[in-house]
Amino acid sequence: MKYKIAVLAGDGIGPEIVAQARKVTDAVVQKFGHEFEYTEALVGAVAIDKVGNPYPDETHELCMNSDAVLFGAIGHPRFDNDPGAKVRPEQGLLAMRKKLGLYANLRPVNTFKSLIHKSPLKTELVDGADFMCIRELTGGIYFGRPQGRTEDGQTAYDTCVYSADEIERIVRLGFEYAGKRRKKLTIVDKANVLATSRLWREVSQRIEPEFPEIEVEYMFVDNAAMQLITWPKRFDVMVTENMFGDILTDEASVISGSMGMLPSASIGVHTSVFEPIHGSYPQAAGKNIANPCATVLSAAMMFEYAFGLMKEGALIREAIDKSLEAGVVTEDIADGKKAYSTSEVGDWLANYIQNA
Ligand code: IPM
Ligand code: MG
Repeated sequence: MKYKIAVLAGDGIGPEIVAQARKVTDAVVQKFGHEFEYTEALVGAVAIDKVGNPYPDETHELCMNSDAVLFGAIGHPRFDNDPGAKVRPEQGLLAMRKKLGLYANLRPVNTFKSLIHKSPLKTELVDGADFMCIRELTGGIYFGRPQGRTEDGQTAYDTCVYSADEIERIVRLGFEYAGKRRKKLTIVDKANVLATSRLWREVSQRIEPEFPEIEVEYMFVDNAAMQLITWPKRFDVMVTENMFGDILTDEASVISGSMGMLPSASIGVHTSVFEPIHGSYPQAAGKNIANPCATVLSAAMMFEYAFGLMKEGALIREAIDKSLEAGVVTEDIADGKKAYSTSEVGDWLANYIQNA
């Protein structure tokens, strides 16, 4: 089959890590006899610099006309340190999510045998942890209006908004994924304080009887933050609103041992996007030291989720496991031993796949 892939490398380490994912996908495509047509487009700070818009119309057109989007990272310290900036790279990511209707961000969290010791958590706590965080991605406080400042500039406000329909579609997805896994769903909210969370709970409780085989629990987000690091193995599928999901998944990345290991898939109405959960890591940009695994694993999710090509995805995962076992890893997980460069890891993975 022929697939059209939009490549949005973005800022910071984005281009370097995406280049490795492409090497790996090329190797897979060759091996299995598929055909990939890649087209690159601008997003983020580079897009602001070149065309003044962090998610240009041409980029959106390309995404809409592609079978999947492979995404790197966005963000630049120039904007982080300038709260007054009118246009920000992150707006590009949010615009992309909104315009593609990517309401669900799937963030699988698991451990890798040879990396267990890298987690700051005790081995017996993390060994065997394996859950899926489903983060709502196009609603909540990220998108609610009004947002801004009062005229005197001394007061600022954001608004958290959720409609019952938005909640229902994401919670249903949570039930469906739980059904495919260990049949346990944790719905995370702050219903003791927030009106939106109380609607989440109301909608979820209405849907619950349709899925009698699923064990459901409701958990306040502060408690979830604690349970995640004290007993991560208790979770199977977790579903939560946009900002809670953003925070909890960064926290969850310590279970894998490095932010550089966590992939994600954003799915919804139009083309799905596959991106690492980490950011643009500007300190490492251009140095060829960043961990490409999260992006490579995102490419594995692309094969599985976008194209239903499970063997292809599995081979990428196998290559990653073998590279970790062989110690062909970047400095973030090298543990004082020899650290390989970003491109060396990419080459090793591609080579493993070619010879598999
Ligand atoms: C993420 C990131 C983004 C988010 C930023 C870059 C806007 O942290 O994908 O988790 O907050 O959603
Ligand atoms: Mg985040």
